[in-house]
Amino acid sequence: MIRVGIVGAGGYTGLELIKMLLVHPGFKLTYLATTAGDTLIESLHPSLADVLTFEVEKADAARVAQSCELVFLALPHQASMGFARELMGYGTKIVDLSADYRLELETYEKHYCPHEDPEHLTDAVYGLIEYYREEIRQASLVAGPGCYPTATLLGILPFIPYIDTSAPLFVDAKSGVSGAGKKLSETTHFVTINENIFAYNALKHRHQPEIAEKIAKIHGARMNVNFVPHLIPATRGELISVYATLKEDIDPLAVLKAHYAKDPFIRIRENPVDIKSVAGTHFCDIFAAKNGNALFVNSAIDNLLRGASSQALAAANLMCGYDEGMGIPTIAYVP
Ligand SMILES: NC(=O)c1ccc[n+]([C@@H]2O[C@H](COP(=O)([O-])OP(=O)(O)OC[C@H]3O[C@@H](n4cnc5c(N)ncnc54)[C@H](OP(=O)(O)O)[C@@H]3O)[C@@H](O)[C@H]2O)c1
Repeated sequence: MIRVGIVGAGGYTGLELIKMLLVHPGFKLTYLATTAGDTLIESLHPSLADVLTFEVEKADAARVAQSCELVFLALPHQASMGFARELMGYGTKIVDLSADYRLELETYEKHYCPHEDPEHLTDAVYGLIEYYREEIRQASLVAGPGCYPTATLLGILPFIPYIDTSAPLFVDAKSGVSGAGKKLSETTHFVTINENIFAYNALKHRHQPEIAEKIAKIHGARMNVNFVPHLIPATRGELISVYATLKEDIDPLAVLKAHYAKDPFIRIRENPVDIKSVAGTHFCDIFAAKNGNALFVNSAIDNLLRGASSQALAAANLMCGYDEGMGIPTIAYVP
């Protein structure tokens, strides 16, 4: 068994990691930490009462290195890089769920804050499993992709060779409230979001440059990506609708089926997709259709799992020489 830990164990993605690691056949949970520590995990997550009794420590890099061979950083951006920089010196493998190692230095500093660990930025592998599998196997630092970029990129990347990359790409995204993390804000307040739906950070969300940068890296196409996220009154799940212009006559479903023929966690659907069928799973469901040269691509993921924790676990599996699907959830919370 390989010993693993979680820093940021009190948050939503931390809880998802705990649940999967408790039943994982190859990983043993040996370390949990939060900013303050000195508590039991069931105090932070009452749903774990009588399931897991575990002391939560104050986050400390030396203790992580002593206790684990691999650690998940389920921390806000900026907090992660301070921690990762210290840990890299100990040789502990890291899967970071924050934005700190996802982007080129210039893109990161333009949209987030000054980077505190630029020397390790180039070592980090972007953890979009289907596109970076081989690099992830060799990596000691994996940057978990953003939730919206995961669903968007998995949907649109197969079509980049067939679309007009000089035309604007429109990405309409809808997310359940857990995408914003545990901390309450005005927009995630029950009274604001209940029976409501609204766009936020339209055309200036930080995931817009992430989507554009990865399309450019994977396909060499610099696209004008226009990303509009919406908050919906659901706990988990993300639905993406991408609109693009085709330059070739293709069968969209045939393109998807051929592209993902060997990827067990991508499901190509014959009809538009929904969030409930993927909630609780690592699946990304994708549908596509065309009308003349107009292309519609529709994808759905569970933001907390495929958009964060199960994608991080799949990366950890590969980094440790395990099968990608080991301990990965596939049964949806339906009905
Ligand atoms: N939610 C999603 O759907 C999603 C999807 C993809 C990626 N992500 C990314 O994953 C990361 C975690 O997200 P989340 O949704 O789990 O957030 P969350 O629910 O707000 O949890 C973050 C946790 O980090 C802890 N923390 C903050 N600063 C810390 C520090 N300096 N040292 C140790 N612990 C610290 C916080 O509590 P304490 O301060 O009490 O320890 C909190 O429990 C974020 O970077 C987020 O952007 C989230």
